[in-house]
Amino acid sequence: VPFRVDVVTIFPEYLTPLRQSLLGKAAERGLVGVEVHDLRQWTDDLHRTVDDAPYGGGPGMVMKPEPWARALEAVRSPGTRLVVPTPAGRPFTQAVAAAWATEPGLVFACGRYEGIDQRVADWAAGAGPVSEVSIGDYVLAGGESAVLVMVEAVTRLLPGVVGNRESVEYDSHADGLLEGPSYTRPASWRGHEVPAVLLSGDHAAIARWRRAESLRRTAARRPDLLAALPDGALTDDDRAV
Ligand code: ADE
Repeated sequence: VPFRVDVVTIFPEYLTPLRQSLLGKAAERGLVGVEVHDLRQWTDDLHRTVDDAPYGGGPGMVMKPEPWARALEAVRSPGTRLVVPTPAGRPFTQAVAAAWATEPGLVFACGRYEGIDQRVADWAAGAGPVSEVSIGDYVLAGGESAVLVMVEAVTRLLPGVVGNRESVEYDSHADGLLEGPSYTRPASWRGHEVPAVLLSGDHAAIARWRRAESLRRTAARRPDLLAALPDGALTDDDRAV
């Protein structure tokens, strides 16, 4: 299997959507292999305990390190990236997704409660790259839904997973700008018209209009993205928009 995804979680049922839709079809076609593992199989007490009170006090519980170490020893091939979703992580972006899609596979460690004992990530760094990442500036109850997001973003970039390569190249964020609006038939609908240039057949004019819409939308919704573009990314025509 070209790309392998392993997820370790105390809520394996939460990951069942990984078997559906785009990714499910990629799995059927043998392009991606997905395995979900229950962390509790690596506990050894009667109550299958995975958490404990935080040293230093404070609210919530922290995931114990030993079940995680056993899980990673069982599931992670040496050199495979370990991804730990956490609101305290570095941002997960399209560039990160594209970089990870060039690797042989990923192992995800889903924390619940107040997170996983930090020594797990520190120890795991001795066997390959470890990425503590956040999918956005909000707090989820656990890493499971973040893993669904990241696996979808990465696997759709794998060769053969999305039928139309162009639809990946033109995505929002691929060139650092937001994608502009799209339209389909009818040309006139409930008093709202498709922009005339799109019906003109003038492909150069259409390309210029799309670029301008992309710039206008990015300036309105994500001025931070415009400010972050590298020198030379904007032409004089772009600046005139
Ligand atoms: N776990 C809880 N919140 C998260 C977030 N924003 N990103 C990734 N993992 C999380």
